[in-house]
Amino acid sequence: MTGLYTPYLMRVDEIIDETVDTRTLKLSFKDPKVAQSFSFVAGQFAEYSVFGSGECTFCIASSPTRKGYIECSFKKVGKVTSQMRELNVGDTMGIRGPYGNSFPLDKMKGKDVVFIAGGIGLAPVRCVIWNVLDLRKDFRDVTIIYGARSEADLVYRRELEDWKNRADVKLHVTVDPGGQGPAWQGEVGFVPSIVEKASPAASDAFAVVCGPPIMIKFTLPVLEKLGFAKDRIYTTLENRMKCGIGKCGRCNIGPVYVCKDGPVFSAAQLEKLPNEF
Ligand SMILES: Cc1cc2nc3c(=O)[nH]c(=O)nc-3n(C[C@H](O)[C@H](O)[C@H](O)COP(=O)(O)OP(=O)(O)OC[C@H]3O[C@@H](n4cnc5c(N)ncnc54)[C@H](O)[C@@H]3O)c2cc1C
Ligand code: FES
Repeated sequence: MTGLYTPYLMRVDEIIDETVDTRTLKLSFKDPKVAQSFSFVAGQFAEYSVFGSGECTFCIASSPTRKGYIECSFKKVGKVTSQMRELNVGDTMGIRGPYGNSFPLDKMKGKDVVFIAGGIGLAPVRCVIWNVLDLRKDFRDVTIIYGARSEADLVYRRELEDWKNRADVKLHVTVDPGGQGPAWQGEVGFVPSIVEKASPAASDAFAVVCGPPIMIKFTLPVLEKLGFAKDRIYTTLENRMKCGIGKCGRCNIGPVYVCKDGPVFSAAQLEKLPNEF
């Protein structure tokens, strides 16, 4: 039987511990027909289920350019994420989706792209980064600015290493003051100040920003000061969701359903929303 809320069955193929409380799962579709037909765009999310425990919402952290599997990265915070930590390679879980809108990749083509992320906020941004890098010649300069509280909180370390070694990517990795160990070679400072220091050119550029609300709050004015237009700064919201498809009314900000009108919004769009988040 299939319906709106029926999940696809997924096999856990790989488990990667990013930090002490953050884990990435690589999931493949158990039904080969779904594996072939499933497609999504960068910025979309899914409802992930552990049978007997419930569902929770995560972005799709892998790139749509890489077919046949998806990845999600999650932090253990409550009921479902705790059960997800118990899954082993070979176990089955579910996903519904993809849902929501996407980052404007078509508009970003031919432009500079600046990615700014904090903590596990790198998960949705990583999807767009790989999408852009897999189509590298369609974009101009690529700058990635990523920060975490401490070295131990940095996620996707192997990819940070990849990006560091690429001549066609400018990477700045920072930790909060006090979060660095004796061997740390990156930057030290909060993300907004590192953005200001890096001063990426804004004249023909788009920015994608994702992280804790406090980071976004202090990064947006820096981007505007550097000259980024509000309709060229994009972020993704994480309002609590249930259905993911505009039926339950859990995710609204005023008249806007974050699950179907978002989760991706420009700074210009956010400015017009009631200040409820
Ligand atoms: C579009 C979208 C994308 C997301 N992407 C990711 C992702 O890639 N990785 C990731 O780790 N998390 C992501 N989240 C947040 C994630 O959905 C919640 O952390 C998760 O649902 C918690 O499930 P749980 O059953 O373990 O926690 P619960 O037992 O339901 O809750 C545990 C605690 O966390 C709080 N909480 C739960 N959900 C949220 C929320 N959305 N915002 C604020 N507080 C919350 C609860 O109030 C409670 O205090 C995303 C959320 C949205 C809406
Ligand atoms: S999550 Fe149900 S309406 Fe948005």
